[in-house]
Amino acid sequence: MTESTATSTVEPILEVTGLVKHFPLTQGILFKKQVGAVRAVDGVDFTLAPGETLGIVGESGCGKSTVAKMLVNLERPTAGSIKYKGEDITKLSGRALKAVRRNIQMVFQDPYTSLNPRMTVGDIIGEPYDIHPEVAPKGDRRRRVQELLDVVGLNPEYVNRYPHQFSGGQRQRIGIARGLALRPEIIVADEPVSALDVSVQAQVINLLERLQGEFGLSYVFIAHDLSIVRHISDRVGVMYLGRIVEIGRDAEIYDHPTHPYTQALLSAVPVPDPEAREHRERIILVGDVPSPTNIPSGCRFRTRCWKAREKCEREVPALAVPAEFRHGAGPAAHASACHFAEEKQVVPPEESLDDQAEGAV
Ligand SMILES: Nc1ncnc2c1ncn2[C@@H]1O[C@H](COP(=O)(O)OP(=O)(O)O)[C@@H](O)[C@H]1O
Ligand code: SF4
Ligand SMILES: [Mg+2]
Repeated sequence: MTESTATSTVEPILEVTGLVKHFPLTQGILFKKQVGAVRAVDGVDFTLAPGETLGIVGESGCGKSTVAKMLVNLERPTAGSIKYKGEDITKLSGRALKAVRRNIQMVFQDPYTSLNPRMTVGDIIGEPYDIHPEVAPKGDRRRRVQELLDVVGLNPEYVNRYPHQFSGGQRQRIGIARGLALRPEIIVADEPVSALDVSVQAQVINLLERLQGEFGLSYVFIAHDLSIVRHISDRVGVMYLGRIVEIGRDAEIYDHPTHPYTQALLSAVPVPDPEAREHRERIILVGDVPSPTNIPSGCRFRTRCWKAREKCEREVPALAVPAEFRHGAGPAAHASACHFAEEKQVVPPEESLDDQAEGAV
């Protein structure tokens, strides 16, 4: 077990091990020759407990959406396993795969482009029943769809309207209703509020939290912003260039981060109190994120890390509880892929990001 032991007593509903997705880079038009690979996801491990929310955070291009797509079988992994209740779903096909897919649904990032503009809301939400008619017999579909509209806080009478007749927040509610249609156990939400106004973001997050309680859902909640996932996540994994570099319970990650990348991301999170803002340290990362076609040797973060030493170039740091924290059960004892992991408080403790999020409701 390389991850935090906090959830190790509960049988995970999802267990991802060594997940890899490489896209071939080809040259030539007629005779395509592979000249390299985009290492979009390059060895991701995590578990998800029943009823839990795992936040996955990282800058644009670090591989979050590719992980999401593999979880719902929209992309086939190059390597690794995805176990749902102990069974590797990457090995399944036909009816067995279809049955499992029903239980893992996705909510997409952009409610403006993910809904077919020529379909009515009723047809969009009810479309999954075409593939799984056993969930809702034809004569029962309209009622089911109206129920789903009601569940996500929309008027059931809107069933014959088209997506353009709704606001962004309402469209995301439609996307969520569609995700719920097959009564899944797991929802993979890929930046579900990133395209929405700040004032609407909190409403959609509150809706997702309510639905989680109502339907006993487990969430993988993806975001590029650490402040958004704190409110909803039990645990958070921080991704950099195709890998998770630090993972732990939310208080471990926000109040006791040990990986320099997490510390840098946290130092950029908005802090409402002007005095606290003045006293905290901003960590400015040098350079750009390297290309996933050309990942640095050793620690992939080393080209931007202010602590990098010779060892970082030679040895890949494992995602594990760092040796110096292993003896204790303190908050620093969570998995961090850094040879020189150290605790560093970045966000002042009296600053509660939760208060900030609640203020936005
Ligand atoms: N189908 C594809 N073919 C080639 N490269 C891809 C494909 N999909 C994603 N990528 C690349 O993989 C990397 C990770 O992309 P993505 O998973 O979308 O990241 P994120 O969601 O974190 O922004 C990016 O460099 C992206 O350009
Ligand atoms: S292993 Fe080295 S380069 Fe990587 S995060 Fe730690 S100190 Fe920085
Ligand atoms: Mg994405």
